[in-house]
Amino acid sequence: MKINPCIEEVLITSEMIEKKCKELGEIITNDYQGKTPILIGLLKGAVPFMAELIKYIDCDVELEFIDVSSYQGVSSTGEIKIVRDINCSVGNRHVLLVDDIVDTGLTLSEVIKTMKNRNAASVETVTLVDKPEGRKVKDAEPKYVGYTIPNKFVVGFGLDYNELYRNLPYIGVLKRSIYEK
Ligand code: IMP
Repeated sequence: MKINPCIEEVLITSEMIEKKCKELGEIITNDYQGKTPILIGLLKGAVPFMAELIKYIDCDVELEFIDVSSYQGVSSTGEIKIVRDINCSVGNRHVLLVDDIVDTGLTLSEVIKTMKNRNAASVETVTLVDKPEGRKVKDAEPKYVGYTIPNKFVVGFGLDYNELYRNLPYIGVLKRSIYEK
C-alpha cells in the first residue's frame, strides 16, 4: 500500500484495526448481552472506529455522538467543553463511550463525569488507541483498549493533525517536520 509521505512510520495497519475491532466487538457483545447500551462516539476522531467496531457487536445498541473540544495542534490545552451534545437521556442506561485515542484522559474524564451526573446505569469506555504515558488523570481508564502505543503523535483512521489525515486507513506517526514547520 502507498504510505502518505507525511507519515514517518505506520504503527497500526488497516488489517490490525479490523482484527482488533472483531476481538473487541465479541467481548462487548458478551458483556452487554440483553442491556441495549448507548454507544456514544466522540466526534470526530471516533467515527471510523465506531463504524468498524459496530459491525462486530452482535447485540442491540443505540448510537449517539458527542463533540467535546480538547486539543489544538499537538498538545492538550486542558480546556474541555461540550460543543455538541447527545440527543437522548442516559438515565438508567448503560453508556459505552467510543474514543479514538486516550492520552491525558482529560477529555474522557469530563465526559464520564457528565454521564454519571446524568445518572447513567454504567459508564465504560472503548478506545482504539491508548497512550498511557501521557495520562494526567486517574479516573478515565478505558475498560476496552485496542492498541497501546508509546507517547508519539499519531494520525490516521480518524485521528487528525489540524483536521488533516483522518482519512488514512492506517495509524502512523506524523513526521515532526509537518508540525514543527
Ligand atoms: P486527552 O484528553 O488528552 O486524552 O485527548 C483526547 C483527544 O485528543 C483525542 O480524542 C484526540 O482527538 C486527541 N489526541 C490525543 N493524542 C493524539 C494523537 O496522538 N494524535 C491525534 N490526536 C490526539
